[in-house]
Amino acid sequence: MGSMRIIQVGNGNVAKMHRECFAEKATVIAVIEINLVKRKQAEEEGFPAFSDIASLPLGLLKEVDLWDICVPDESHYPMMKKLLQMGFEKILVEKPICQPSQIPEMRKLLKRFSNAKICTEDTYASSLVVEIIRKICEKYQVFHPSIVMEQSKNRMQDIVNGRFIDEELGVFALEVPHSLTAITATGDKRSPAVIQNVSLEDMKLPSGKILPRQGKGRIVYRTEDDCEVTILSAMDGDILHPLQETYTPTTIPFGDPTRYRIMVLEDGPYKIIGQFEPIPGWPRYKGQVLIYKDGVMINRIEVEDKPMNRHIAKAIRYFEGEEKNPAPPLEALSLVIFLSEAIKRLGP
Ligand SMILES: NC(=O)c1ccc[n+]([C@@H]2O[C@H](COP(=O)([O-])OP(=O)(O)OC[C@H]3O[C@@H](n4cnc5c(N)ncnc54)[C@H](O)[C@@H]3O)[C@@H](O)[C@H]2O)c1
Repeated sequence: MGSMRIIQVGNGNVAKMHRECFAEKATVIAVIEINLVKRKQAEEEGFPAFSDIASLPLGLLKEVDLWDICVPDESHYPMMKKLLQMGFEKILVEKPICQPSQIPEMRKLLKRFSNAKICTEDTYASSLVVEIIRKICEKYQVFHPSIVMEQSKNRMQDIVNGRFIDEELGVFALEVPHSLTAITATGDKRSPAVIQNVSLEDMKLPSGKILPRQGKGRIVYRTEDDCEVTILSAMDGDILHPLQETYTPTTIPFGDPTRYRIMVLEDGPYKIIGQFEPIPGWPRYKGQVLIYKDGVMINRIEVEDKPMNRHIAKAIRYFEGEEKNPAPPLEALSLVIFLSEAIKRLGP
């Protein structure tokens, strides 16, 4: 067990994933969870669990080094505010850092507590596949590619169970922040700059119920260095940018755990495909990068990529003062501002 002492807020799926990543690097000393069943689950795993921060014993409050916020999107901002106002200054918070309606307040909060150490769980900022893509681009001088990134899965069952519904950002809340971060990490000036085109479609559940803007989404934009980027994400199982080279079906059936996560960069004769784990039929955590020139594969690199493990390891080194922040809060906020501008294009 690691020396950094953590209190987790929320004991859902992501909190458990974080715990696996903390492994040797940090120790969870308590869990805050409003749901009784999930609180019991934490206790069964051996963690002292409490319904809110107010019920935490003083001893644990004195002991904690880092807070890990794993609650749903709309609660990231209020939870950060509460902890900062209580004087805690080391916070790991899930993405997106806040919702569009919370942007002005979040801006004020970050200004007021500018000395606090806050890192967002923008996992793909630390993906090895992305790191390799960047090096390949440098090697083959692919400096001005058009880029398509898709992260899709059939998440209807999750959505029926109440996970992943974001009233403000719709489909843009779950995977699109990851795509924006990954693309930004492929070059020095790859931050999103000008929005060109936006669409969001509703989700139709098997029961016939319609969930507005939770089906699939698409944003086309230009980066600071003037590359054209298309980000695609479907939560209803449709694959929006199928590739002959990787995974050809165009729909992921209901209940199938397959995820489709690809980044394609094209520039002149070169086509670079990053395929993120999990790849159907492959061991978990295996990703690959394929490089084509004039339609012929000239290289293929298989990698063991655990983006969340890599990201959390970097975050902990940052909190320990050994590394720079892998996902600073102001950058995370600028991504939410960008997504909020994209949503505004669609009207009410
Ligand atoms: N980084 C990633 O790769 C990644 C992947 C999936 C989800 N996420 C993000 O992680 C966050 C959590 O997602 P999840 O899938 O774990 O959701 P989840 O619904 O499984 O878990 C959230 C938990 O928080 C609890 N909770 C809600 N409000 C609370 C409060 N005020 N105090 C204490 N507990 C509270 C809920 O009862 C629930 O158990 C979301 O913001 C989501 O966008 C990130």
